[in-house]
Amino acid sequence: MDAGTAGQGRKRHVSDLPADAADDPKITVREFVKEFPTKAGPLLALDHVSLDVPRGQFFVIVGPSGCGKTTLLRILAGLEEPTQGSVVFSQAPPGRPGNSMIFQGDSIFPWMTVWDNAAYGLKMRGVAAAELREVVGHYLDKTGLTRFKDRYPHQLSGGMKQRVSIARAFANDPDIMLMDEPFSALDEQNKTLLQEELLRIWDETHKTVVFITHSVDEAVTLGDRIMVMTAQPGRIKAMVDVPFERPRDVLQLRGRPAYAEIVYDIWQHLRDEVNRSDQQPASDSMETSRRRAKPVL
Ligand SMILES: Nc1ncnc2c1ncn2[C@@H]1O[C@H](COP(=O)(O)OP(=O)(O)O)[C@@H](O)[C@H]1O
Ligand SMILES: [Mg+2]
Repeated sequence: MDAGTAGQGRKRHVSDLPADAADDPKITVREFVKEFPTKAGPLLALDHVSLDVPRGQFFVIVGPSGCGKTTLLRILAGLEEPTQGSVVFSQAPPGRPGNSMIFQGDSIFPWMTVWDNAAYGLKMRGVAAAELREVVGHYLDKTGLTRFKDRYPHQLSGGMKQRVSIARAFANDPDIMLMDEPFSALDEQNKTLLQEELLRIWDETHKTVVFITHSVDEAVTLGDRIMVMTAQPGRIKAMVDVPFERPRDVLQLRGRPAYAEIVYDIWQHLRDEVNRSDQQPASDSMETSRRRAKPVL
């Protein structure tokens, strides 16, 4: 399956709302339950999760490892069916893919150059050569990859491979962008650079994004609204609005007292859940956030 165009063309539950209705929710999830059969009996991954993501919102889901984040995103992408519940996507404009998914780690084709990887979704849709050149060129430029367009993935660093995934996903111009911890394997410097690039591209496109992370810092840096999940079984623990104006300057934002307050608020919601889960009590980013946030309270 092509990671860049997951779910494309699938006829799922689509409402008949007009595409330009300003206040219609882009994604409406009702009472998602997901159970996986396992040798030890059914495993409840999602437990009655309901949410609305408005058109053009950067929606972030944060939660401890194993809480059902990837499962939720895979259901939204049409890669998995919920055991119970429904999802409605308001009408996508014709001729565009419903969603593109960017995975953790790299999911680009090793036998294709940077250019061909970025152009893949558009080529599959039969987009004319001139438009393809313009759009792919634009996103390779935005992600700093123009100089590397003839390279193959094995000649690229981890950060550059994730840039290719981002360029491919945005070039594909999906209605909804689904991102599953795309920066989690990167070092701090690369993570910050990629977050800045993603913010710049998002400011241009204002796509509806569902972005998963286990990093509180990343959630507050990028998101308009953050859903905090409980440890498995995944439920909604809290919804937190992020009031910061856009465009955002990542470093400037992180120095603001209001930023630290929101990070601390989310960390409070998460702390019990992280302790409850089987994983490490706190990831680096959560610890960092807590330490940074403490002095302001
Ligand atoms: N195909 C599957 N079969 C059985 N259990 C699964 C399957 N996929 C995920 N799980 C389990 O469901 C829970 C949620 O997984 P996942 O959505 O990957 O969590 P997260 O992305 O938040 O780390 C975990 O306990 C995981 O082991
Ligand atoms: Mg996951």
